[in-house]
Amino acid sequence: MSYNLLKGKKGIIFGALDENSIAWKTAERVHEEGGTFVLTNAPIAMRMGQIKELAQKTGSEIIPADATSEEDLNNLISQSIEILDGKLDFVLHSIGMSINVRKGQHYTDQNYDFTAKGWDVSALSFHKVLQGLYKADAMNPWGSIVALTYMAAQRVFPDYNDMADNKAYLESIARSFGYFFGKEKKVRVNTISQSPTPTTAGQGVKGFDGFISYADKMSPLGNATAQDCADYTVSLFSDMTKMVTMQNLYHDGGFSNMGVSQEIMEKFSK
Ligand code: NAI
Repeated sequence: MSYNLLKGKKGIIFGALDENSIAWKTAERVHEEGGTFVLTNAPIAMRMGQIKELAQKTGSEIIPADATSEEDLNNLISQSIEILDGKLDFVLHSIGMSINVRKGQHYTDQNYDFTAKGWDVSALSFHKVLQGLYKADAMNPWGSIVALTYMAAQRVFPDYNDMADNKAYLESIARSFGYFFGKEKKVRVNTISQSPTPTTAGQGVKGFDGFISYADKMSPLGNATAQDCADYTVSLFSDMTKMVTMQNLYHDGGFSNMGVSQEIMEKFSK
């Protein structure tokens, strides 16, 4: 159902790789709600991905940008303002990648070149996006910027590896930059801490199947899907949440406040 919540709003959506991506579902939902946007992803991902299909479906243009490159980001921001004919109201940062995870390096045996690259892509890129937008004065007042994160920033999930540290850093950036963006430009910055979700990035985590079913059994509402996350993001882009900023918002069916659930207890009861 559409409520026209984003009618007239313009933005940039990072990270739609394929139809499972959280950013893909969000782009479809934002389009349904009347928002217009530019789609972007790393040039290499674009060659592999199906982003053109999404662009056609949503009447969007695509601008490639490596989120670790300030030059690419500045170009993306200025071109988006031109294409959309005005400043931006929303931005979604939906980017994550750990080379240690990909290459099977254990958390206690990290290759620090991999660690630095993964941190740049998954965490520092958020600061680069924010700084690019801030310096270009690219956001309209009451605009909303959202990045996606995971609860491994607060609690230990051993196989989440160095992404746990990257997410802690990402969440801290939302608070620190959120202050300046709020004070100077009346723009909101938040992170959504999402349930495990079967996407390319999600399934890269070792033991993902166990991980996702455990979370589902622990959460009173079950896991939040990518589609649910898209809905929640739309609410944060809308004027209905104008005073929400600098928050890490759990979107996880209640998982983050659980100790143990009946289903999990039953597995351990004789
Ligand atoms: P995905 O694999 O569909 O999306 C990750 C995106 O990051 C891809 O589109 C990829 O091309 C992009 N990316 C990687 N390097 C880049 C670079 N240098 N420049 C620009 N883009 C780059 O997976 P998903 O799950 O949709 O991930 C989106 C976000 O959600 C990530 O931040 C992820 O950590 C987060 N998240 C995912 C969860 C899950 O279980 N799937 C749970 C909680 C958070």
